[in-house]
Amino acid sequence: MLLIMRRLGCKEVADSVLDELKTKTEDFTKQGNRAPSLAVLLVGHDAASETYVRKKAEACARLGFLHFQYSFDEDCSESELLTLIDELNGRDDVDGILVQLPLPASISERRVIERISPEKDVDGFSPVNAGRLLIGEDCFVPCTPKGIMETLRYYGVETAGKKAVVIGRSNIVGKPMAAILMQRGIDATVTVCNTKTPDLREYTLQADIIIVATGHPGTIDETYVKDGAVVIDVGVNRIPDPSKKSGYHLSGDADYASFTNRNVSITPVPGGIGLMTVSMLMSNTFEAAMRRRG
Ligand code: GUN
Repeated sequence: MLLIMRRLGCKEVADSVLDELKTKTEDFTKQGNRAPSLAVLLVGHDAASETYVRKKAEACARLGFLHFQYSFDEDCSESELLTLIDELNGRDDVDGILVQLPLPASISERRVIERISPEKDVDGFSPVNAGRLLIGEDCFVPCTPKGIMETLRYYGVETAGKKAVVIGRSNIVGKPMAAILMQRGIDATVTVCNTKTPDLREYTLQADIIIVATGHPGTIDETYVKDGAVVIDVGVNRIPDPSKKSGYHLSGDADYASFTNRNVSITPVPGGIGLMTVSMLMSNTFEAAMRRRG
């Protein structure tokens, strides 16, 4: 059987970003600068969050970045977090601050994120950075959408004049993704769908580029996608699987296997956009360090 699906693996994309950053970091420190530094705050023991935070620490180690981790119990108070963020905002040896989400329900994610100084907000989640992105000003771009753009560039996917459909409207992925794709210079025509969209296929079947970020496996399969389209799968869902030592396997939001015999380009899970999110965090942290040195 002829397999015509194109797998847009992100390992080599992420590695090329990290290798370039490592060289830049070496040059930066040779000039007498302290290495870029990242402070990561983790609350509770969510297994997925612990994995993400570990991967961020590993990436810092690979690049020679300084890394400070602060772990809190599930029952920590919002004011404890705010006090630490105030301290980190004022510390000269901290370039970037990241609070791993989600936070426990008793803590306001908005109040916590808004407390991070916009100059150290390497996630790009603060209202200042989100607003700047929307109006096309220089800012920290949220890591997942930034990584998606890097992947599209790496694989030579044209965006100008193309129809892009974003499925999902989160502050972390969907909204910033739509803002970037519609920017002058990127020039896609963007539609944003959500769980209340009555007939998703009506939109996706017209799309040249589909970004699926719902957090629900099986949101789309090959029947939602036209020939020649590019599918970017942002989902990282843990599916219980007794045959695995870990007890689960990972699945994206798209039914990857259904595309096998289709003329479609698609990012896999694992090995896809998740790798880009971490490498873009390192890129933003490097940028924060550069900017803070003027
Ligand atoms: N939780 C899921 N994705 C992210 C992310 O990109 N940054 C943070 N801080 N938390 C997350």
